[in-house]
Amino acid sequence: MCGIIGILGEKSVAPLLVEGLKRLEYRGYDSAGIATLANGHIQRCRAEGKLINLEKKLRSAPLEGTTGIGHTRWATHGRPTENNAHPHATDRVAVVHNGIIENYASLKEELEGLQCRFETETDTEVIAHLVTHCLRQGMGPQEAAHAALNRLEGAFSVALVFAGEHDLLIGARQGTPLAVGYGDGEMYVASDSYALAPLTSRISFLEDGDRVTVRRAGVTVYGRDGSEQKRPVRITAQSGATTGKGEYRHFMLKEIHEQPAVIGDTLNSLINPATGAVSVSPEALAALEKAPRLTLVACGTAFYACMVAKYWFETLARMPCEIDIASEFRYREAPMPAGGVALFVSQSGETLDTLEALRYCKKNGQKVMSIVNTIESTIERESDIVLHTLAGPEIGVASTKAFTTQLVTLLCLALALAARRGGAAERPGQNIVDSLRHLPAQLSGLLKEIEPQIQDIARDIFESVHMLYIGRGLLYPVALEGALKLKEISYIHAEGYAAGELKHGPIALIDEHMPLVVLAPENDPLFEKTASNLQENVARGARVLLITDKKGEARLKGFARWIVRMNDVHPALAPLIYTIPVQLLAYYVAVTKGTDVDQPRNLAKAVTVE
Ligand code: G6P
Repeated sequence: MCGIIGILGEKSVAPLLVEGLKRLEYRGYDSAGIATLANGHIQRCRAEGKLINLEKKLRSAPLEGTTGIGHTRWATHGRPTENNAHPHATDRVAVVHNGIIENYASLKEELEGLQCRFETETDTEVIAHLVTHCLRQGMGPQEAAHAALNRLEGAFSVALVFAGEHDLLIGARQGTPLAVGYGDGEMYVASDSYALAPLTSRISFLEDGDRVTVRRAGVTVYGRDGSEQKRPVRITAQSGATTGKGEYRHFMLKEIHEQPAVIGDTLNSLINPATGAVSVSPEALAALEKAPRLTLVACGTAFYACMVAKYWFETLARMPCEIDIASEFRYREAPMPAGGVALFVSQSGETLDTLEALRYCKKNGQKVMSIVNTIESTIERESDIVLHTLAGPEIGVASTKAFTTQLVTLLCLALALAARRGGAAERPGQNIVDSLRHLPAQLSGLLKEIEPQIQDIARDIFESVHMLYIGRGLLYPVALEGALKLKEISYIHAEGYAAGELKHGPIALIDEHMPLVVLAPENDPLFEKTASNLQENVARGARVLLITDKKGEARLKGFARWIVRMNDVHPALAPLIYTIPVQLLAYYVAVTKGTDVDQPRNLAKAVTVE
């Protein structure tokens, strides 16, 4: 989703802006641009598509100046064209913006009445005209920016530069993130600390409602009520090193292969190597132990991790659990129990719906916990208790290693709670912990074994128009995740279904043209039931891709067109290993189709609009 960078520099700023934009690329975007001040005048360069197009334009017509702003745009209002790309500007001010101005239509009408000529289809352009109108009324840049920003409704962040003002950058945060970076004689603003990491490690995060006036000599922050505020400067742990693809063709493939290592790292932070005991934050356990209910909220793939976790928390720890998609949860005014715990799961830590759901729970007296991958994110900063997944930067838009590290973190939390509560769950819990410790090595072996086979299957099915994935219990969310991965990157329509639910509708779609992926380990207590569902579909002509273990293969090989044989694992760990083949399948189908695997069309990595 849109990324912002702004620099008050010492040397030519355009190359630094482009480098910063490259570090925002992972968020997903469809056009980009920069604006600089050259001899006091605003100059812009914008391009549709990837940054390479912007760089090409800048090579033939470089922008000078040491002050500038840059933007990667994920279109909300107006098509992803060069003309709609940010920065938007008049002769007095240039602006980059992330988020949505909800009252832009009425503001536009008002400004058109004042003879402002609009050139784009965006909501952002109203900011440039509104600020310019205020400047024309005789206000100074800061006063004009504040007056204009005070009229905007919605969730957004912005950065502005002004003609003739080489030492001024104004930023605002109202809902979506903005960080300020402190350099030596240089100052920066950006959507996240990752974008600024090569420039500085000294960062302060703005709070909602903040306006910031940035000059090379320092920064003044004004809170929502207009009074001056101090925002602490932290030393960020973000690495300035560029995350590369290494020997891999795509980030997604690299990230799939990193799973044994990052799952190992995450497990090492959660299991005491000497005693083999799960050790999660005592504060988290104390809160969970007393809570009458756990509410899990997230979006996308992170939501599927919560779906799996519901089974673990309920069966292993006997903890009543509610799960919901953040965009639904936040508006339904759910009654929250006294002493309840709400747990938010997010790779980016910035997903706006998840963040707003968190704020709702906080306001309603819940202890707020989060599981995040991106350090120093807003969700982390607003949580009472934080657990980190140690997946490292995930660049591919389709989430892979973040999901599996979320799963191991959630499982360890459920196991620790089960052990704390004692009783029947204690013994099986220890078996699971023992199996978990072998998981990284098992996954490495599995990846080697199944990858070539899945490449072949992908060649057989890549021309399909629709696909179905089914599973029961812990594997039902994995079926949903498999279908999501496939549609995200290969654009094949796919649906995940609870195996038992297929006959209530989707079975009508079954024919020899629609591959049916069945996730069914033989040691799963629900295997027999899924096996019957498989046979019902085969009887109707389904071509089945069966993902199962050795015994499952022996039982069902006569019914499947393709079989992927998995390691034997404790049934509670099945989601962790059965996710690997569905990730690989989506990847190889997409590669065979030739789609843009790492930056699929229309998708964003950090979704900062609702
Ligand atoms: C976007 C991403 C998904 C991700 C979801 C939630 O849709 O493309 O991969 O699962 O947002 O993101 P979060 O950062 O909160 O986990």
